[in-house]
Amino acid sequence: PGGGLLDTFGRRATDLRVSLTDKCNLRCTYCMPAEGLNWLQKDQVLSRAEIVRLVRIGVDLLGVRELRLTGGEPLVRADLVEIISDLRTAHPGLPISLTTNGLGLDKKAARLKEAGLTRINVSMDSLHPDTFAQLTRRPFLDRVLRGIEAAAEVGLGLVKINAVLMRGINDSEAPDLLEWAVSRGFELRFIEQMPLDADHGWTRDGMITAAEMRALLEPAFVLTADPRSRDGAPAERWEVRRRSAPETVVGSVGIIASVTEPFCADCRRTRITAEGKVMSCLFSREETDLRELLRSGADDAAIARRWQEAMWAKPKAHGMARTGLGAEGFVQPDRSMSAIGG
Ligand code: GTP
Ligand code: 5AD
Ligand code: SF4
Repeated sequence: PGGGLLDTFGRRATDLRVSLTDKCNLRCTYCMPAEGLNWLQKDQVLSRAEIVRLVRIGVDLLGVRELRLTGGEPLVRADLVEIISDLRTAHPGLPISLTTNGLGLDKKAARLKEAGLTRINVSMDSLHPDTFAQLTRRPFLDRVLRGIEAAAEVGLGLVKINAVLMRGINDSEAPDLLEWAVSRGFELRFIEQMPLDADHGWTRDGMITAAEMRALLEPAFVLTADPRSRDGAPAERWEVRRRSAPETVVGSVGIIASVTEPFCADCRRTRITAEGKVMSCLFSREETDLRELLRSGADDAAIARRWQEAMWAKPKAHGMARTGLGAEGFVQPDRSMSAIGG
């Protein structure tokens, strides 16, 4: 491999996603089983210093330009604020964002901002307490809403809200969710469910497609393609106008069509799991361990080389766009979303 995190299809990964923990305090049905998973032992998870070192190697040697911290649920990590503050000190200009379920965010938002966090995405699939509890298997909607408000109050950039739509559960809520988000200045993104649930219950027909999402919003809103460049981002953005007042743009909505309109050809992602493995793709079968190198005294150049080798083998695409599981050679990964890093 040459300089940077290149692959054999000419893509270059500049967008690093680091999972800080495999643990989570929700049990979303599209991700985790009710009983949770076998959590990693403490010493299996990368330490604060190891995370900071890997990010430094990524930024200084491998061309990483953007960082997102994920999980599991990153807020359950007790040293999250310290990790962000170390990262900010090491990389003053690096965009650092967080993807969270929002639990506990009300108490931590100010400290996260102060530590140097740039932006935040919060997952929230329903505004109805019962539907929220059905989807997440926990009755915590109020706490999540408080977390979102706190993030907006302390000025954590543009707050993005992620909602996975599930047939017969929260799909009919799509227009209400969008009205709620635009009236508060949040950018809502609707997400196609991917086959990354620990229960292996995903079906192609069960999934609400991007085309269906747009149809669900049509009665209440006029959507027009957002002229801003998409720039490798998973979300396709649409300008939103209310049907009742079609002159005024009231916000924008993103549609993340990972399955039916995959963005693999423009993918810029490289991921590190909580236990220090490189995953070149959400759906890659291969994982490359960096933790052992880190702990055996390897120098930065050796770690960078191993990381490059892992990315060189990045698959072309996930291969489930048209027909779903079993076709086009696609096999559902053993790991769930929480164990890969969202
Ligand atoms: P920004 O647009 O920078 O805010 O971030 P993001 O959308 O990349 O981050 P976020 O963690 O909020 O992810 C949003 C959704 O995109 C996730 O819920 C996934 O469904 C999907 N997603 C994230 N990473 C990948 C990926 O590598 N491949 C695919 N196919 N989908 C992904
Ligand atoms: N399909 C699509 N998105 C998922 N997420 C978790 N599991 C899935 C899945 N199976 C989303 C969460 C969160 C982000 C980290 O990943 O809703 O927004
Ligand atoms: Fe990138 Fe893999 Fe996601 Fe496609 S499925 S966008 S290649 S990480």
